[in-house]
Amino acid sequence: MKVLIFDTKETLFESLSHYYINEIKANPNIHLGLATGGTPVPLYEKLIEDHKLNKTSYKNVKTFNLDEYVGIEETHPQSYRTFMNETLFNHIDINLNNTKVPSGMASDLELEAKKYDKLLDEHGINIQLLGIGTNAHIGFNEPGSNLNSGTIIAPLTQETRDANVRFFNDMSEVPTVSITMGIGSILKADKIILVATGANKAEAIKNTIEGYITKDVPASALQTHNDVVIYLDKEAASLLSK
Ligand code: F6R
Repeated sequence: MKVLIFDTKETLFESLSHYYINEIKANPNIHLGLATGGTPVPLYEKLIEDHKLNKTSYKNVKTFNLDEYVGIEETHPQSYRTFMNETLFNHIDINLNNTKVPSGMASDLELEAKKYDKLLDEHGINIQLLGIGTNAHIGFNEPGSNLNSGTIIAPLTQETRDANVRFFNDMSEVPTVSITMGIGSILKADKIILVATGANKAEAIKNTIEGYITKDVPASALQTHNDVVIYLDKEAASLLSK
């Protein structure tokens, strides 16, 4: 794993957005695995800014999101579909038909998971973007998850629900279940970029990079992939020993 540490969030996202823009220009048909949550928002803002200024085109780009809440409609203000449309897709020239988010409202969720895996296998992801939970979850693969699985229907831990309540009116609205690409699906990407900012991610990052590969630290499975780059600000890197 390659670890890049930046003095500030601003310099981190400056560098990361340049990386993405160059990759999209070099391969206009690129397949991007995308994440939601707070962490990637500054990246998406910079991609929009660049699209407006330099006309970098997403016409032939395909995107595949990591996860979605189970039990809330696509049109719900807090669904990850709505998040992606509002935070990125509606502001660039991407064809919405080329943007995939698993459905959390499918009548047969197991079938939806299988269909999502088939879609991922048919297309393949060139660059998978990841955030990380304070408990080192990636996607919604919480501690204890199988490190090899495809897309799964996964319960959310209370820690994750606590972290995400900020997007909802109150805890009663926070979903308890998700549909998420499994760690096995994530590891199939050609390249993986994990981004973490802030001191609350420092322990998860230390365990991910310096700890054993274990189900207790889902992101530790990234140690088995041969092209992972971890972008950290100083705070998220603060517990690393070297
Ligand atoms: C989001 C996702 C999650 C988040 C993680 C960190 O699609 O799969 O793993 O990346 O919960 O969230 P933030 O960035 O809000 O701290």
